[in-house]
Amino acid sequence: MVCVHLKMAVGIVLAVLLYVISVVSSTHPKEQTVVGIIGQPVLLPCDRSTLATPNYPTKTRIYWQDLTPRVLHVFKDGNEEYVHQNLWYKNRTTINTDQLASGNLSLLLNPVNVRDNLLTCKVFLIINGVNSQECQITVNVAASYQKPTLNFTDMTLVCTTHGGFPEHQVTWRTHNRTLERHEAVTKTTQDPGTGTYNISSQVNVTEGQNITCSIYNPILNETQSNFIVIPASKEENHLLKWILAAVCPLVVLLTAVVLCVKYPNLRKSWRKMIHCCPEPEPENTAQEPARFPTPSVTVNKTNMNATCSTQGGYPQPVVTWTIQDRGNHTLDPWEVQTNITLDSESGLYSVWSQVNITENQTVTCHIFNPVLRETVSNTTIVSPSKSINTDPAGACDRTQHLIFMN
Ligand SMILES: *[C@@H]1O[C@H](CO)[C@@H](O)[C@H](O)[C@H]1NC(C)=O
Ligand SMILES: *[C@@H]1O[C@H](CO)[C@@H](O)[C@H](O)[C@H]1NC(C)=O
Ligand SMILES: *[C@@H]1O[C@H](CO)[C@@H](O)[C@H](O)[C@H]1NC(C)=O
Ligand SMILES: *[C@@H]1O[C@H](CO)[C@@H](O)[C@H](O)[C@H]1NC(C)=O
Ligand SMILES: *[C@@H]1O[C@H](CO)[C@@H](O)[C@H](O)[C@H]1NC(C)=O
Ligand SMILES: *[C@@H]1O[C@H](CO)[C@@H](O)[C@H](O)[C@H]1NC(C)=O
Ligand SMILES: *[C@@H]1O[C@H](CO)[C@@H](O)[C@H](O)[C@H]1NC(C)=O
Ligand SMILES: *[C@@H]1O[C@H](CO)[C@@H](O)[C@H](O)[C@H]1NC(C)=O
Repeated sequence: MVCVHLKMAVGIVLAVLLYVISVVSSTHPKEQTVVGIIGQPVLLPCDRSTLATPNYPTKTRIYWQDLTPRVLHVFKDGNEEYVHQNLWYKNRTTINTDQLASGNLSLLLNPVNVRDNLLTCKVFLIINGVNSQECQITVNVAASYQKPTLNFTDMTLVCTTHGGFPEHQVTWRTHNRTLERHEAVTKTTQDPGTGTYNISSQVNVTEGQNITCSIYNPILNETQSNFIVIPASKEENHLLKWILAAVCPLVVLLTAVVLCVKYPNLRKSWRKMIHCCPEPEPENTAQEPARFPTPSVTVNKTNMNATCSTQGGYPQPVVTWTIQDRGNHTLDPWEVQTNITLDSESGLYSVWSQVNITENQTVTCHIFNPVLRETVSNTTIVSPSKSINTDPAGACDRTQHLIFMN
């Protein structure tokens, strides 16, 4: 009695266990997710232990269908059958009929289209009228974003990338922080043909900033990024140019003034170009010394004076007069009227010197060059006048001199 109850209990437990196993195995088939790249083939894998039954393949049907449901592919009574295939999947599905018996129910979808995204394919197997779902495969469609290109103009930076799927946010990062979403203006366009996205994002930047633009593909777990170090702004470059343009002439002018003051010999040549230099001073010594030509001495009997002149020497000479009749007596400066001028064109000196004379005097004019230590001189003899009465002043002078001489 006890034994019978025990056997019943074990039987019930076993039945429940088997039921649970069967329910689990049939209503929770192998679920998988695969990634399909746009334009490329994707394998929807489905592996079952084996199909080897006495009635395979004649009493066997296999269906691949999505959740709509639309039929992707059909294998029936030993052949592939396309009558029920949905147009959307036409020419894009392949199975390996040779491997079906060994349980390989995988289907190849080629090429993947953006509209295949989130396609869930179920594989149903019907053997001898017994239906079972073998697999459930979901396709996540993806495409890589291109490495972003950065275009910097007028303190705004535009990051552009294209050909990616699915759509995702561009992120911006500087050396110490990630920019907020509102700091960027993002524009996304979807290519009508391929369904891929072009994304461009624009931010305002500051000079010297090292800024990175990144686009993440969550399906491929792939990040594409590019960075740029913002150059100094054009405005600052212009400012710098202006400063240089203003400072350079000032420096040149200052240098010129300093040189003028420090090296007076430079002034002469610069005086014509720059009006900053004062007149040259007589103690100019750096110019090459120049010999004075022998002076000419002319006698004016009307005024009873002798004039000595020469020009083209350097530096300023010392002019003296001597009178032979008085034992080569040198005239005192107050007895002599001398005018020495510097010619600004040639930079050389002209000498003009005049003394009063009396008849029969022998006067000599000496021009001494202090640098060359050279004297040039000329002598003239004042001959007696033949027309004494025509010049009362001269007669007076003459009388005086005669008296003086005597
Ligand atoms: C499938 O391929 C055949 C032959 O290559 C072609 O005639 C047909 O238009 C294609 N069907 C579709 C839906 O692409
Ligand atoms: C199943 O068949 C597909 C081709 O349809 C093949 O690529 C795959 O490797 C096969 N799987 C196994 C486990 O043999
Ligand atoms: C960068 O942006 C400027 C202004 O928006 C545009 O004229 C230029 O063609 C762009 N350059 C590139 C390489 O995209
Ligand atoms: C990042 O650095 C910049 C200058 O280098 C500074 O002005 C800013 O406050 C910093 N931000 C954070 C969040 O540390
Ligand atoms: C960039 O700066 C301009 C002018 O300062 C402003 O109008 C624009 O909104 C800014 N752009 C962003 C994304 O903050
Ligand atoms: C996306 O970008 C590519 C490459 O720059 C371009 O050829 C294509 O026309 C763009 N598509 C759209 C919709 O903007
Ligand atoms: C700018 O930042 C990027 C990314 O952090 C880094 O690889 C690069 O070396 C930096 N460049 C400079 C010049 O700092
Ligand atoms: C994504 O890739 C990074 C490295 O590139 C890796 O560390 C991480 O584990 C990946 N995440 C996933 C979910 O695969």
